[in-house]
Amino acid sequence: MCPAMHDVHAFLSNWMRSLDMAVAVDAIGNLHGVYPGRKQNSERRLLIGSHLDTVPNAGAFDGVVGVVLGIALVQALDAERLPFAIEIIGFSEEEGVRFNTPFLGSRGLIGRVDDNLLGRTDEMGITISDAIREFGLDPSVSRKALLPSGAFAYLEFHIEQGPILEHLGQPLGVVKTIAGQSRYSITFIGAANHAGTTPMSLRRDALAGAAEWITMVEAEANSIANLVATVGSIKSEPRAGNVIPGFVAATLDLRHAEDEIRRNMASELLDEADQIAGRRKLGFCAESCLDQSAVGMDSALVYALQRAALKAGCDAPLMTSGAGHDAMIMAEKIPSVMMFIRSPGGISHHADESVLVGDVELAVSAGMHFLKELATE
Ligand code: GLV
Ligand code: MN
Ligand code: MN
Repeated sequence: MCPAMHDVHAFLSNWMRSLDMAVAVDAIGNLHGVYPGRKQNSERRLLIGSHLDTVPNAGAFDGVVGVVLGIALVQALDAERLPFAIEIIGFSEEEGVRFNTPFLGSRGLIGRVDDNLLGRTDEMGITISDAIREFGLDPSVSRKALLPSGAFAYLEFHIEQGPILEHLGQPLGVVKTIAGQSRYSITFIGAANHAGTTPMSLRRDALAGAAEWITMVEAEANSIANLVATVGSIKSEPRAGNVIPGFVAATLDLRHAEDEIRRNMASELLDEADQIAGRRKLGFCAESCLDQSAVGMDSALVYALQRAALKAGCDAPLMTSGAGHDAMIMAEKIPSVMMFIRSPGGISHHADESVLVGDVELAVSAGMHFLKELATE
């Protein structure tokens, strides 16, 4: 929802219009391009998408490669019409960086946006509603489901963002399950005071309390197989070398493929924070920003995508995604599936993130076989 997104929309819109696609931006800021099917009035639609936003200091592929690949597939059809339309979607704000809650675009598309969500603020105090208005859209419409009728499946290409495919020597994978995630905003409140005059025993240092808790988060996460927990952002106030930190705002991100394990760990970690705060005479509060269950992809589509990859010459393994994706939101409403593309070095959410050109070509080829199989059904 920042000015750069207008440039991205303009670039992709021009490309899509050159392929005879009808382009529009919906009320939550998702870019849509529709390539009609053989029968102009048939409503059946295959959705292909991913997100256009990214994280700070990111690479060039997380999200956007899935949108570009969808458009490339339409281009590769070379004006051929299928028995269904293809709708490309470039989702708005999937990462959840600005408002510390992800999937705004896909949640909007399936009607999961409410006043509570629209009222969330960024670091500058700007609400999601204001950001939508600022972008030139009407936030009141974003509460209504925007999913096109006739949409029968959702396909998302995405870089793997991990080391598994590289380790297996495979260019492509097919996602079977996406791990659930919890996100929290955490606050520790102590008392700012003079760093030279306040004895250690009389301090209420919010940052020292947060630090004790953060090392505990790491240790607890290490004790459960396949659980990952991250405190990715901390902000202390008043941020001066000679002042005891009186306030800390932090984030907690927690993931596991089994919801019960994730939720149990979340409440354990919040309990620990509460106890640490109590011992140190700090205030503590935790706001839940997301509790997204793990999601299975549609098994018929999973096997169809695996067959398509095989036809492209690649024995794509089934995988669990530790990263969240718009597909996990879309799966609530329509059968969904994802294809992963190998991430060299397993690097992502980093400027060194990359893909191999040959792998992307294979993904296009697998995508074409997938379209052809759907077209014959
Ligand atoms: C999205 O990249 C996520 O945080 O999983
Ligand atoms: Mn992504
Ligand atoms: Mn990401």
